[in-house]
Amino acid sequence: MRRVDQLLANLGYCSRREARDWVEGGRVSVAGRAVSDPGSKVDETGVRIDGEPPDHPGELLLLLHKPVGLVCSHDEREGANVYSLLPERWRRRNPQVTSIGRLDKDTSGVLLLTDIAPLVHRLTSPKHKIPKVYRAALDSDLPGDAAARFASGELLLEGEKNPCAPADLRMLSPREAEVTLTEGRYHQVRRMFAAVGATVTALHRFRFGDLELGELGPGQWRELAPDHFGKF
Ligand code: URA
Repeated sequence: MRRVDQLLANLGYCSRREARDWVEGGRVSVAGRAVSDPGSKVDETGVRIDGEPPDHPGELLLLLHKPVGLVCSHDEREGANVYSLLPERWRRRNPQVTSIGRLDKDTSGVLLLTDIAPLVHRLTSPKHKIPKVYRAALDSDLPGDAAARFASGELLLEGEKNPCAPADLRMLSPREAEVTLTEGRYHQVRRMFAAVGATVTALHRFRFGDLELGELGPGQWRELAPDHFGKF
């Protein structure tokens, strides 16, 4: 049970103040009868808003095929963001829908979005060692010892003191590689390749844990069960 005004605001229909107008305008009902008090508590399964059940009253977990050109930040000063791909109402939800970790503006691929804050913390923690698999195109041939250096647990990124955890590097062609990471440091894949003398010219994440894009084209997303990674 939630207060009607809170429900409307949390699900992004309107502000809590505006909810009063929605209620007074008879737009919210339970069992066919208009709710008259914005403070009354309603059950999400029984309430109707403009005659419709509430839009996703439970938690959200989405798998997005992030296209290049969009950022994961909510800060509009950083440019167009991935949340612009979601229904407008979802962009006003509280708790906010946010990305689980980030992909750079120029990186494409699997990006999870959710409003389940503990899930964000759990899946971005290096403790949980979720494997993330990337394909990288490179501007030059890699040195012969690149895979050994990625796997060594000793590879240092510029400006950092702690070496990267061992990462799996598989060459697909002389200038194309697949990398599996269990960490998520800032620009990590690009910086790991920089540490062995190559520049990444394109980067795509095609797997996060057991999740892949399947048929999703760039900019498309699908819903996952909110308990896909267990309950929180
Ligand atoms: N590593 C990067 O360099 N960029 C990403 O977006 C993800 C991992």
